[in-house]
Amino acid sequence: MLVTAKEVLTKAQKGKYAVGAFNVNDLEIMEAIVNAAVRLKSPVILQTSEGAIEYAGLKYLAGMIKTAAHENMIPIVLHLDHGKDIKLIKQCVKEGYTSVMIDASQYDFNKNVSITRKVVSLCHKRRISVEAELGTIGGAEDKVSERNIILTDSEYTKLFVEKTGVDSLAVAIGTSHGAYKFKGRGKLDIKRLKDIKAKVKIPLVLHGASGVPKDIVRKAVKYGAKFEDVSGVPDLQIKLAIKNGICKINTDTDLRLSFTAAEREFLAKHPSEFDPRKILKPAKELIQKTVERRIRLFGSDGKA
Ligand code: G3H
Ligand code: 13P
Ligand code: ZN
Repeated sequence: MLVTAKEVLTKAQKGKYAVGAFNVNDLEIMEAIVNAAVRLKSPVILQTSEGAIEYAGLKYLAGMIKTAAHENMIPIVLHLDHGKDIKLIKQCVKEGYTSVMIDASQYDFNKNVSITRKVVSLCHKRRISVEAELGTIGGAEDKVSERNIILTDSEYTKLFVEKTGVDSLAVAIGTSHGAYKFKGRGKLDIKRLKDIKAKVKIPLVLHGASGVPKDIVRKAVKYGAKFEDVSGVPDLQIKLAIKNGICKINTDTDLRLSFTAAEREFLAKHPSEFDPRKILKPAKELIQKTVERRIRLFGSDGKA
């Protein structure tokens, strides 16, 4: 069933676990995520970035995810990840998204507030949840990129939430998007998270949270991938973050790495195979395993 983010995140907050938000770019990735959530009886957030929408088309992605929600008994949220364009947000509203992120974090506080407030008033009329971002999460993806990391200042969070009326807040506490997150040991600013948590009551969101699993990276490298010094957020840090108020955790990079590792292995071992259904199957299976690992780590298994 299709539900709002507010619904699943309120439950997560009470139950002290987090719900995984996984990026969908195509049918195989979506099926892998849904299979994992169904298998573990977990609520799940299926999110599409602006880049995903540009790649696969809004109607195709939304149609596919709404079908998955209709066909399965677990709570599924259809969410826009890093929405920067109000026109696109309006189209998502029209297509039946149950949650959107307005990411105006690149602007100063007042402009971020005014843009976010506009989106909240548009969405709340239709019972659609809104996530916003205060501070900037670094790293570079296709459409989502930010070079200057500004950690969230807890002093501004209360005012931001009061002025905008958002349902959840993405905070910058040391993570970044992509596969190159830390030089040296990966550590989050848990003290900052505690300060933020003390000021606001709404569920907090962790972006750039991929773990960049060593076994997956090894497999990709074994079959020809070239990665140097990749690093992710250690599982223990994720647990600490959940303990201190994080209720939604975004993962995309780990799915991309799983896809790449499985594809490289399959193609290396089956050089004469050319049926896309056979070629894509191992990727789907490895992504499912990766999502299952994440769901268990977040503690949302059995919470559907
Ligand atoms: O937030 C970043 C996500 O991984 C989406 O990345 O813009 O390349 O689709 P993308
Ligand atoms: P990762 O790049 O760590 O997977 O983060 C994804 C994300 O935050 C999507 O919004
Ligand atoms: Zn993000």
